[in-house]
Parts: sequence; structure tokens; C-alpha cells
Amino acid sequence: MKIIVTITTFLSLSLSFQIGAHESDIVDNIMLNQIFNINYQGDLYSGYLKADKEGTTQFYYLFYPAINDSLEKPIILWLNGGPGCSSIQGAFNENGPFVFKAGTSEFELNKYSWTNFANMIYLESPISVGFSYGPQVEQSDESTAKYNLQALIDFFNKFPEYKKLPFFLAGESFGGVYVPTLTKEIIDYNSQQSADNRINLQGLAIGNGCTDPTECTHEAWQFQIHVFHQVGRHNFISEQLYEKVRSVEKQCNEVKTDICTQISKEVEEQIIGKDQKIKANQYNMYGPCYTYTPEGSKMAQRFFGMRQYTEDADIPACADIQGLYHHLRSNKVRNLLHIKVESPEWEVCSRKFVDYKENPKGSYYLYKEILKNQIRVLIYSGDVDAVVPVTGTMFWINKLQTELSLLTLSPWRPWYVEGQREVDPNQNAGYVLDLDGLTFMTIRNAGHMVPLDKREEAEIFMEKFVKKEYFP
Ligand SMILES: *[C@@H]1O[C@H](CO)[C@@H](O)[C@H](O)[C@H]1NC(C)=O
Repeated sequence: MKIIVTITTFLSLSLSFQIGAHESDIVDNIMLNQIFNINYQGDLYSGYLKADKEGTTQFYYLFYPAINDSLEKPIILWLNGGPGCSSIQGAFNENGPFVFKAGTSEFELNKYSWTNFANMIYLESPISVGFSYGPQVEQSDESTAKYNLQALIDFFNKFPEYKKLPFFLAGESFGGVYVPTLTKEIIDYNSQQSADNRINLQGLAIGNGCTDPTECTHEAWQFQIHVFHQVGRHNFISEQLYEKVRSVEKQCNEVKTDICTQISKEVEEQIIGKDQKIKANQYNMYGPCYTYTPEGSKMAQRFFGMRQYTEDADIPACADIQGLYHHLRSNKVRNLLHIKVESPEWEVCSRKFVDYKENPKGSYYLYKEILKNQIRVLIYSGDVDAVVPVTGTMFWINKLQTELSLLTLSPWRPWYVEGQREVDPNQNAGYVLDLDGLTFMTIRNAGHMVPLDKREEAEIFMEKFVKKEYFP
């Protein structure tokens, strides 16, 4: 009897402790609206998650519960890429409930926030990214996946009432590596847990994501074949040069000889000029080039700037990051968001990532197991991105379909945002292809950051995906 009483007391104590554990992370709504000059009515939690068992590694997170009936809606973890870039971009520039007006430091409410249909977590990962901190150890895709799993477990310890909800992973760019590798960690973790302790992972959604070894690996960067196809097909280089690219493609995919380096250089020169003066936006080939430079930055506006990992390319060329720097480097905002002294000065993409070990296999090899575990996959692509272009994504999806003999459930077709177009209500928003277990879609005239360029479209397809609805 006594033992039972003790256990019950212990259980209820630890339970109430758990439920209360997130209260200190709640952001003061009055202050938030004052500092950001908005009228946000929802909740926001801001704080840290333990990314290792000891808690010496702490990952910063933002959590926005869904606007209404949050406990009846799915929960999505969002990861931006890099490696090294902050997921606050996702919250403040892409799909959060308040976002920057283009090219400014002013917030506005986002009608198309993903919090309309889901609970949104944004996690800064791994160590040294954004406000996340920990020991300065060597990092890799493998270690990142392990940290992310621990952070996720800690999230559900803090917010146990969200644990049973359908859970989705979403990511962009190098998130194309983070998301499948974390998925694999979750599959392995779940296989060792009792049913009520498992993470309820239902699906993953990746936008312009690094996947195939021919996309974002160091090997691939020496001859970026899919980028060259993207700029060739869009006439950013001459026909002669594009023919030259195609004539060496096979050979350069295998061995990077001098001719491959030479042709890469010619492509870059044709796009931005020999003197590199042209500010072409690689993230959205037809988009404007924002030139705001944070204090102390030696930003280069080069088309292939981020690929160089040099000191003079510390923020993505042409990206609209003014608002992020303005707010996230201010002490007022650090206080508002409970940022600890241990957290570094915020940067959009950490430059401490020179030693990060990327898996030369990318994440392509993980899809077989992911699909076998019936985790639904949405791969979407803004079709005017020249960083992780649609050409590469279509290349590997085609390869995957052949390799795994995936059935085509519904063939390539246009998709629509019904009746919403001003000029022509039937203008398509892109194209979609449903394979067994994997949907691929393009978003017409969107760049690397789809929810930034096409807010309404992004909200619509993501809501459909989590609700398991397909386009006609
Ligand atoms: C939330 O609920 C309010 C009040 O019922 C409603 O006006 C609003 O449209 C709802 N918002 C969403 C995103 O469901």
C-alpha cells in the first residue's frame, strides 16, 4: 500500500512538473506585439531544448500552437538548411503567423500561416546555429540527426499534451538531409519504445531539398550539373555553352577533371559577368536581389556565393534578411525571447561550419526505408530556384521510381488554387505527380523558399498533405 501511494505521488508530481515545464518559455504577448508592432493573438513559446542527455547542448526553438483547437491539429517540426542556417527564417520569413514585409524590418500578420491548420515548431540546429549552443565538437549529418531526435524528445517532455497528435517533419534546402536522417533516427527510436511512447511520425515534406549525391555534396559542388541544366534551360547561358555542358556531363559526373572546372567557371562568368558585378539571385532566378548587409559582414553577392564557404560569403547572396538581423541582434528581442548569455550573436547562417562533415551519399539512400515504413512523403519544388533546382529533384525522383518500382498513382498534371487567381481563376499553381507513397509537386514561379514566394499556395498544399488529401 505504502509503495503504491509513494508511486502515485511520484507520478502525479512528475506529471504536474512536466505540464508546467513549458510555462517559463511563454513569450509575453503584450511585449511581443509592442516590440514587433503587430497584433498577434496566438501563443508563442521560445526557449531551449536539451539536444543531448546531459543538457550541455541546447537547441533554440520557437513553438506556435495552432490558432484554434490546437490539440486537435497535427504538429509540424520545421527545419531550414545550410548546413548552418537558422530555422527562424522559416518562422519570420516563410510560414509563421507573423512575417516580414518584403525588404523591410516590419512584421505583418500572415493570413496564410501554417498555424491555421497545424502546431508549428521551428528548431535551430545543430550546435552554433542561430541561438543554439553546445560544446565546439566536430559535427556531421549523423550527429545532427541524433541531436535533433533528443531535442524532439525533450520537446514532447515539455509539451506532453502534444505527443499523441499526428506529427510531421518539414524542411527546406539542406533540410532535405536533416529531415530524412531525423526520420531514420525516429524509426529506430520507435522500434525500441512501447506503443504509447513512440513519436507519432506520419509524414515528411521537403522543399527544394538536398537529396541525391549529385546535388549538394562537396563532390557535386565542383560541377553542379542540375544547376547548369536549370540555367541552361532558362537561357541564362548561351546555347553553345549549354551544349558544352551537356557534352561533358557524363564524364564530369564521374571524375572532376580540369575541363569540368573550366566549364563551371564559364557558366558562372556568363551569368554574373567576368567582373562578377551582376547581382543575380540564385534563390529565385527572377526575383529581386536584396543587398542589405549586416554590420561586420563581408557578404558577397555572387551567384554561387554560399557554395564557397569563404569568409566573404557569410549570408546567402540576395536574400531578404534585413528584418532578421534588425530584430534578432537587438537586446530587447533577446530578452523578449528568453535568449541566454550562452547563445552566440545571431547569424542567419553560421560560419563555424567549415568543419561540418556532410555525408557524401546525401539522403537519397534513406528513402527506401522511409517508404517501407509507410511514412508519407511530399517533395515540393519552387521551379525557379537555382540553388537546389527542380531539375535535380526530378532527376532523383525519376531514379527512385525506377529503382523501387514505385507505382504511378496519378500522373503528372497541373494543380490549381481554385478560384483564387485574379486574372484567370484556372491558372495553374504548378504541377503534381503522385507515386505510391511519394507526391512530387512544383510551385510555378517560386524560388528556393517556397512559402516566402508563394504563401497562399504553400499553405494550401501543406494543409492538403497533412490531411491526406490529393489534388484532382
Ligand atoms: C479561429 O476561430 C475564430 C472564431 O471562431 C474564427 O473566426 C477564425 O476564422 C478561426 N481561425 C482559423 C485559422 O481557424
